[in-house]
Amino acid sequence: MGGLRGRDFLTVNDFTQAELQELLDFALLLKKDWQEGKPQLLLPGKTLGMIFQKASTRTRVSFEVGMVHLGGYALFLNASDLQIGRGESIRDTARVLSRYLDGLMIRTFAHADALELAEHADIPIINGLTDLLHPCQAMADLLTIWEHKGRLQGLKLAYVGDGNNVAHSLLLACSKMGMHVAVASPRNYQPQAEIVTQALENAKVHGSTVLVTTNPKAAVEDADIIYTDVWVSMGQEEEREKRLEIFKPYQVNADLVAEAAKDAVIMHCLPAHRGEEVTEDVLEGPQSVVFAQAENRLHMQKAILAKLL
Ligand code: CP
Ligand code: NVA
Repeated sequence: MGGLRGRDFLTVNDFTQAELQELLDFALLLKKDWQEGKPQLLLPGKTLGMIFQKASTRTRVSFEVGMVHLGGYALFLNASDLQIGRGESIRDTARVLSRYLDGLMIRTFAHADALELAEHADIPIINGLTDLLHPCQAMADLLTIWEHKGRLQGLKLAYVGDGNNVAHSLLLACSKMGMHVAVASPRNYQPQAEIVTQALENAKVHGSTVLVTTNPKAAVEDADIIYTDVWVSMGQEEEREKRLEIFKPYQVNADLVAEAAKDAVIMHCLPAHRGEEVTEDVLEGPQSVVFAQAENRLHMQKAILAKLL
């Protein structure tokens, strides 16, 4: 376990393919042991702080329950109740919390804030979603794909919708694991160039391909996985009307699914907005694995916690 202990988990791109595979292998083992009711007290007495500046259902509950399964304890820290909400610096917060906690998860707006926290903390900082990235989600997604398809290398994932934090982390995670990724987004809503560049670099090393297009049908052609996420992310609420209009051609519906491989699985990080980015029949249909995917947040994060803390 030596190589991962004490590290931050800010982006999947800080880790090698072998390290990501180590986390996936361990998550699968923890999941099996948990299903068999075996004790998993790998972090006895350890504490995880969880700073939330945005809402959460899955991330909060899966991290909290995960720490309990591992014999530790998690503290929910609503940012508006911390002194950080009254102007205490991230730097001082990082230094103080490092003296109480064994690890700290943060869900925030600016990715730079998570980086600043990591710079000044002496404990592992875990990114529980920033405007730029959602790495724990992407890892749970890889675990889900691996379980449903029996492999990662050579599969094609098509992401249709907003080129957001979830799209960014998928681009990085899939390209690093040797998966082909195609992202279809409207012109001004495509993934950031810096992330696409990183994904292309991963692809070169790991024998995968990366496509960014405005054409959803081109993206889903022969895809093994179709993935979508909300059109209006947290913090973008005032753009809602405009976005709903622009994203209409990017809905994942039965017509679009018919363009992919017959056995393609449908994924969504949730929460879903039925009738917007995905239709009810597709989300609830036989190809959908979204609830298995949500469950895997628990198993994947337990692996991350047990290896890092
Ligand atoms: N997918 C995800 O991160 O969900 P929450 O916002 O509920 O944590
Ligand atoms: N892109 C979404 C993901 C929510 C889990 C958001 O940032 O709101």
